[in-house]
Order: sequence, then structure tokens, then C-alpha cells
Amino acid sequence: MLRRTRTTKKLAKRIDLQYFAHMHPFRRWRFWLSVAVPIIALGWFITQRAQGGQKVYSSGQLSHAHAVFTQQCTLCHLAQAGAFTAQVTDKACLACHDAPLHHANQTFTPECVTCHVEHKGATLLQATADAACTQCHADLRTRDGQPHYAISITSFENKHPEFTPLRSGMVDSGGVKLNHYLHLQPNLMGPNNTRVQMTCDDCHRSTSAGAWPYGAAGMHPAAASDASPNRPHDQAYVPPPEFAKHCAACHTLQFDKRFGNDQVPHDKPEIVHAFLLKRFGEYIAAHPDAIHEINPPGRQIPERVRVPRVARNAAEWVQFRVDDAEWLLYSKTCKQCHTLNPTSGPLPEVAKSNLTARWLSHAEFDHRAHRMMTCTACHTRTPDSRETTDILLPGIQTCQQCHRPQGPAKEAAEGRCFECHQYHDWTKAKPTKGGFTIQQLRGSARVPVPQAGSPH
Ligand code: HEC
Ligand code: HEC
Ligand code: HEC
Ligand code: HEC
Ligand code: HEC
Ligand code: HEC
Ligand code: HEC
Ligand code: HEC
Ligand code: HEC
Ligand code: HEC
Repeated sequence: MLRRTRTTKKLAKRIDLQYFAHMHPFRRWRFWLSVAVPIIALGWFITQRAQGGQKVYSSGQLSHAHAVFTQQCTLCHLAQAGAFTAQVTDKACLACHDAPLHHANQTFTPECVTCHVEHKGATLLQATADAACTQCHADLRTRDGQPHYAISITSFENKHPEFTPLRSGMVDSGGVKLNHYLHLQPNLMGPNNTRVQMTCDDCHRSTSAGAWPYGAAGMHPAAASDASPNRPHDQAYVPPPEFAKHCAACHTLQFDKRFGNDQVPHDKPEIVHAFLLKRFGEYIAAHPDAIHEINPPGRQIPERVRVPRVARNAAEWVQFRVDDAEWLLYSKTCKQCHTLNPTSGPLPEVAKSNLTARWLSHAEFDHRAHRMMTCTACHTRTPDSRETTDILLPGIQTCQQCHRPQGPAKEAAEGRCFECHQYHDWTKAKPTKGGFTIQQLRGSARVPVPQAGSPH
């Protein structure tokens, strides 16, 4: 059997003793590449520059809102001593839009760029990371040394407090009475002795538009239906109920049988008083014989009817009839919905209606974004509520079923802080005085360094 024999000598013969004198194909390639790449890059760079752009220095695509400014890096990267600097100062941002401070009580002011991250592609700059907020809110320090809010919040799931109205001891201090349970019963007595089933929509509407079924008769057409559906942002909150739109058809304000279905105006007692004086004055002028009439027995007058007083003249008759009508209104009709406070004069004062238009004043909410749900999915307690003082709003657990800090990535709705809160106190925003030309924003014109404007 033949064996291959490998002696050291035979092996040595395989080695090309001239290997260092000519190149291996790999090495040749490496050489040419190391020459060509910089040349190609330089060529690309020169062409890009020749087209007037500075994009070549960029570290990534700009955000959606700012992409239009890509040609003019110095709008943000204010040139220092004529040279490009990778740093961005707040001054550059404030030349284009104001961004008021968060809270007078904050101990320091983070730079814009700690929250609004650039060059990460077509992102939304407002979508800031929770860390932008928890850098302070995980261990809240205040300038006055007295935190007024939860001291440690690390995420919407972690240590975020229950909403203010839902904390124990809180009540709805609205000044107009309403028994939700009663009004949501089937077969409720409606206008003209009909039987109806009311829905939330009949008194509260955030998203849909249409006629109000229980508004006052003869309302102006514009008032008889709710706001135009074309302005979605007006529909974030539900406007407080109004007597004329939502109660008037069932709760009528008749004042005396002689006048049939005529009603007093829904207004201050002084105005109701003036109205009554006028109507009874006109009546007695037209019917002088009525002076001997006392009030016709009225179905609406409660049992403990006052001793009827017989008038001696027209003026006295008017006074007595106005007294009777007001007694009816203030011991029954108006009192059903209002607290009536005595005053030093003869007329009571109607307590302020005080209906809350916005409950969660430290957060944002939008009913329209939730219009796919039933009202009672969130306002679960409403159908059983008999007291005006009941709080009917949903608590944090309701929201946590959908809004999670990991958001859409974890098949949930957005749950980072910015979804429900504002950082900037926009009530303090100042108008921005635009200072750039189109050439300075889009073209090659030199960008002026913004004046030391008012730092937020
Ligand atoms: C709308 C404002 C804006 C414009 C316009 C802009 N940048 Fe930036 N750039 C930023 C911000 C913000 C940072 C982060 C700076 C910091 O952390 O201080 C940044 C950072 C950088 C960095 C540092 C690396 C990094 O990613 O942090 C480079 C390099 C850079 N930009 C290049 C450019 C170039 C080149 C252009 C023009 C094509 C440009 N930028 C246009 C806002 C802008
Ligand atoms: C040359 C002007 C200009 C400069 C400089 C500029 N912006 Fe803007 N910014 C705009 C315009 C225009 C919009 C879009 C219109 C709007 O929303 O007001 C915008 C929108 C925004 C938005 C809202 C849009 C979103 O995606 O959430 C944020 C946040 C923002 N800018 C932050 C900054 C920050 C931070 C800086 C500084 C790094 C900066 N801007 C620099 C012009 C500018
Ligand atoms: C602690 C984080 C944080 C800092 C610091 C910060 N912002 Fe904001 N900014 C936000 C958040 C969150 C929003 C979205 C909610 C809101 O409007 O307050 C926002 C919104 C904005 C908007 C969008 C307004 C709109 O609705 O179109 C602009 C513009 C803006 N910021 C500019 C700035 C500028 C300029 C600075 C620096 C002076 C700055 N921000 C500093 C977090 C921050
Ligand atoms: C620089 C520190 C700081 C940062 C960053 C910060 N906050 Fe605050 N925040 C405060 C202080 C201080 C208060 C007021 C505390 C007090 O008076 O007790 C406050 C109050 C609040 C309040 C309650 C009062 C109100 O105005 O509604 C909310 C909500 C809030 N911050 C949300 C946020 C969110 C969301 C972010 C991130 C986008 C954020 N904060 C970032 C310091 C900060
Ligand atoms: C899904 C909506 C939502 C998200 C996400 C959310 N919050 Fe809130 N937050 C609320 C609501 C609603 C309130 C109650 C506001 C009120 O009572 O006026 C509130 C209240 C607060 C308050 C006031 C607390 C107090 O003591 O009264 C602070 C501070 C706050 N949030 C910070 C944060 C921070 C920081 C984050 C992110 C880590 C965050 N929130 C995420 C909805 C949200
Ligand atoms: C007959 C008209 C009427 C109907 C029908 C009605 N409401 Fe109300 N609602 C009112 C009035 C008036 C108030 C203000 C008085 C009060 O605060 O209780 C109110 C207050 C509220 C409040 C805020 C007050 C709080 O304490 O939280 C919520 C939330 C509410 N209603 C939800 C509903 C829902 C959900 C439905 C349907 C299931 C409904 N309402 C049906 C008239 C009505
Ligand atoms: C069916 C319930 C109901 C009856 C009955 C009723 N009101 Fe009202 N009233 C309301 C509602 C709801 C509001 C708040 C919204 C509005 O102004 O329509 C209100 C508001 C008022 C206000 C304004 C209170 C404020 O905030 O300053 C006055 C004044 C008033 N009513 C007077 C009367 C008088 C006088 C009567 C009797 C003649 C009467 N109301 C009968 C429901 C009623
Ligand atoms: C579809 C008819 C209808 C509408 C619309 C309606 N109510 Fe009523 N309401 C009734 C009936 C029926 C009663 C029970 C009979 C009665 O006491 O008059 C009642 C009773 C009340 C009571 C006394 C509740 C109790 O516990 O005894 C109040 C207060 C009241 N309504 C307020 C309102 C307010 C405020 C509105 C408008 C926001 C309104 N109602 C709209 C039909 C209606
Ligand atoms: C996703 C939960 C959710 C759903 C669904 C929902 N609401 Fe609300 N509702 C809220 C929250 C949260 C508030 C408190 C908002 C605020 O005032 O800050 C509120 C407030 C209200 C108020 C008091 C006025 C106001 O805007 O603050 C009324 C009235 C109301 N809702 C009625 C309705 C009706 C009617 C529906 C059905 C069409 C409905 N809600 C559906 C969560 C919900
Ligand atoms: C059934 C799931 C669900 C529940 C429960 C829910 N949300 Fe939402 N929410 C959504 C969806 C879906 C959106 C719209 C998509 C988005 O912006 O992520 C949204 C959007 C929002 C927005 C942004 C609105 C806008 O258009 O700017 C806020 C703020 C919010 N929700 C607060 C709340 C609060 C507070 C609660 C509890 C009272 C709540 N949500 C309960 C699903 C839910």
C-alpha cells in the first residue's frame, strides 16, 4: 500500500519564497478599496455640498415637523465662531416657537433636547420618554419645599395616584339637583303624558350632533341642536346640561292657570318677579271684573294652600297674585332643581349652578378618542346613582385596562405620560415673532443667529 510521505523538505518546497514581492488577490483588493472608498466618499460629499446641502454631516433623518429645515443645519446648530457645532441650545429652538416653563415650583429647567430627541427619523417630537418626566417625578423636589402632588411616580402603572375626584371623601358639589337613576328608568313620564326612555345622549353629548329631544318649545333652530360635528376638538369634554336644551320639555314653569301653558322665564327671581308684575298688571287691565276672583283652584298648588286673600283694588290684586305665583315657584317648581337661599329681601337667591365642565384639571382627556365605547363602560355607577353628590367618573383602573406604559408595542394604547399630560404651561405662551426668510429656512442664505430672546 502506497503511503504519502510528507518530509519537511517536501513541505518547504510548497512555500513561495517570493510571496512578499507580489500581492495575494485579497490584499490587492484591500489596497484598492482603501484608496477608492475615500475618493468615492469625497466625490459624493463634494457633489452634495455643490448642491448646497449640509445634510452630509447629519447623524440621521430629522423629525417629521423639522424635516423641511434639513438644508439649514445652522437653524438649530447655531454656528459658533463660524464653525458647525453638534450641540444645540434652547435659544435656537425658541427662535421658532415659544415653549413656556412647566411649573413655577420646579427646581431646575431641563434643556429642550433632553426631552425632544432629534435625528431619529420621522418621529413625533412630543412623544417624549417617561424618563423625561420621571427625572423629576420619581422623587419630586419643589422650590418651595412643599410638594402639592404625588411625590413619587415612576410610570402610569407604577405609583401613579388615583385621580383627585375619586379619592375618598370627594363629592360632586354641583348646584343643580339630578337623580340619574330616576331619569334613566324605562317609562319615565315625558312631555304631554307620553312615556319615554331617556339616554345619556339626551342631556350630554360629546360626539354626535342632532336635535335635542327635550328642549324648550320654540327654541331657535341653532340652539335646538348641538354644536357642529365638524369641529372635533370642541368635543373633548361634555358641556354641562342646560335647562332650555335638556329639561324644559318635561319640567315646565307654569305660574297661573289663567295663563294656560304660559311659563315664567328661566332666570333670576328679580326677572321672574318683573315678568309676573307685568303679566298680572296687563291681565287686570283687560279683565277689571277679575278683581273679586281669588286664585282658581290649581292642580299644582300643594295641599297646604295659603288662605286666599281678597283684593280691594287692582294694585292689591296684582300683588296678591304675584305672591301666590312666587310661592308656588319657590316652594315647588324651582326648588325641585335648585337650592334657594333666603335673602334680606322678599325674593330668594338661586344658588350658583356650579356645574363642573372639566373635572381632571391636571390632565387632558378626550371623549372623541373613546367614542367606540358605551358611556357606562366608563361611567359605570351612573344608572344607579340617586344623589347629585355622587361622583360618576371612572377611576384609574378603568384607564389602565387599555393605557399601558409599553403602549402599542405591547398591544395596548399609548401609556407614556405625554398622552394625558402637558409639560409646557401653554397658558403662559408668548407669541413668536418670526425672523427668517424662506431662503434662510430652505435655501443657502446665511442664517442669522437669533437675538437673545426671552428664555422661556
Ligand atoms: C430642528 C433642529 C435641528 C436641525 C435642523 C439639525 N439638527 Fe442636528 N441635532 C439636533 C439636536 C436637537 C441634536 C442633539 C444635540 C444635543 O444633544 O445637544 C442634534 C445632534 C446632531 C449631531 C450629533 C450627533 C447626535 O446624533 O447627537 C450631529 C452630527 C448633527 N446633529 C448634525 C446635523 C446636521 C449635519 C444637520 C443639517 C443637515 C443637522 N444636524 C440639522 C437638532 C437639529
Ligand atoms: C426654523 C424654525 C424651527 C426651529 C429652529 C425649531 N423648530 Fe420645532 N417646529 C418648527 C415648526 C415649523 C414646527 C411645526 C409647526 C408647529 O407645530 O408649530 C415645529 C414643531 C415642533 C414640535 C411639535 C411637533 C412634534 O413632532 O411634536 C416640537 C416638540 C418642536 N418643534 C421642538 C423643537 C425643539 C426642541 C427645537 C430645538 C432643538 C426646535 N423645535 C427647533 C420650527 C422650528
Ligand atoms: C421635560 C421634558 C420637556 C422639555 C425639557 C421640553 N419639552 Fe417641549 N414638550 C414636552 C411634552 C411632553 C410636550 C407635549 C405636551 C405639551 O404640549 O406640553 C411638548 C410639546 C412641545 C411643543 C409642541 C407644541 C404643540 O402642541 O404643537 C413644542 C413646540 C415644544 N414642546 C418645544 C420645546 C422647546 C423649544 C423646549 C426648550 C425650551 C422644550 N419644548 C422643552 C416635553 C418637554
Ligand atoms: C424639572 C423637574 C420636572 C420635570 C422634568 C417634570 N416635572 Fe411635572 N412638576 C414638577 C414640579 C416641581 C411640579 C409642581 C409640584 C408642586 O407644586 O408640588 C410638577 C407638577 C406636575 C403636575 C401636576 C400639576 C399640573 O400642572 O398639572 C403634572 C401632571 C406633571 N407635573 C406632569 C409632568 C409630566 C407629564 C412631565 C414630563 C413631560 C413632567 N411633569 C416633567 C417638576 C417637573
Ligand atoms: C392614561 C392617562 C395618564 C397617563 C398615561 C399618565 N397620567 Fe398622570 N394623571 C392622569 C389623570 C387623569 C390624573 C388626575 C388629574 C386630576 O386629578 O386633576 C393624573 C394626575 C397626575 C399628577 C397629579 C397627581 C396628584 O397628586 O394630584 C401627576 C404629577 C401626574 N399625573 C404625573 C404623571 C406622570 C409623571 C406620568 C408618566 C409616568 C403620568 N402622569 C401618566 C392621567 C394620566
Ligand atoms: C335628564 C338628563 C340627564 C341624563 C339622561 C343623564 N344625565 Fe348625567 N348629568 C345630568 C345633570 C343635570 C348633571 C349635573 C348634576 C350632577 O352633577 O349630578 C349630570 C352629571 C353627570 C356627570 C358628571 C357629574 C359627576 O358627579 O360625575 C356624569 C359623568 C354624567 N352625568 C354621566 C351620565 C351618563 C353616563 C348618563 C347615561 C347613562 C347620564 N349622565 C344621563 C343630567 C343627565
Ligand atoms: C328641571 C330643573 C330646573 C328647574 C325646574 C329650574 N331650573 Fe334653573 N337651572 C337648571 C339648570 C340645569 C341650570 C344650569 C344651566 C342653565 O343655566 O340652564 C339652571 C340655572 C339657573 C340659574 C343660573 C344659576 C347660576 O349659576 O347663577 C338661575 C338664576 C335659575 N336657574 C333660576 C331658576 C328659577 C327662578 C326657576 C324656577 C322658575 C328654575 N331655575 C327652575 C335647572 C332647573
Ligand atoms: C323626559 C322628561 C324629563 C326630562 C327631559 C327631565 N326630567 Fe327631571 N323628572 C322627570 C320626571 C317624570 C320626574 C319625576 C316626577 C316629578 O317629580 O316631577 C323628574 C324629577 C326630577 C327631579 C326630582 C328628582 C327626585 O329625586 O325627586 C329633579 C331634580 C329633576 N327631575 C331634574 C331634571 C333636570 C335638571 C333635567 C334637565 C337636565 C331634567 N330633570 C330633565 C322627567 C324629566
Ligand atoms: C374612556 C372612558 C369614558 C367614556 C367611554 C366616556 N367618558 Fe365621560 N368622562 C370620562 C372622564 C375621564 C371624564 C372626566 C373629564 C374631565 O372633565 O376632566 C368624563 C367626564 C364626563 C362628563 C362630565 C363633563 C366633562 O366633560 O368633564 C360627562 C357629562 C360625561 N363624561 C358623559 C359621558 C357620556 C354621555 C359618554 C358616552 C357618550 C361618556 N361620558 C363616555 C371618561 C369617559
Ligand atoms: C378600551 C380601551 C381604552 C380605555 C378603557 C381608555 N382608553 Fe384612552 N384611548 C384609547 C384609544 C384606542 C385611544 C386613541 C389611540 C391613541 O392615541 O393611543 C385613546 C386615547 C386617549 C387619550 C389621547 C386623546 C387624544 O386624542 O389626544 C387620552 C388622554 C386618554 N385616552 C385617556 C384615557 C383615560 C384618562 C382613560 C380612563 C378614564 C382612558 N383613556 C381609558 C383606549 C382606551
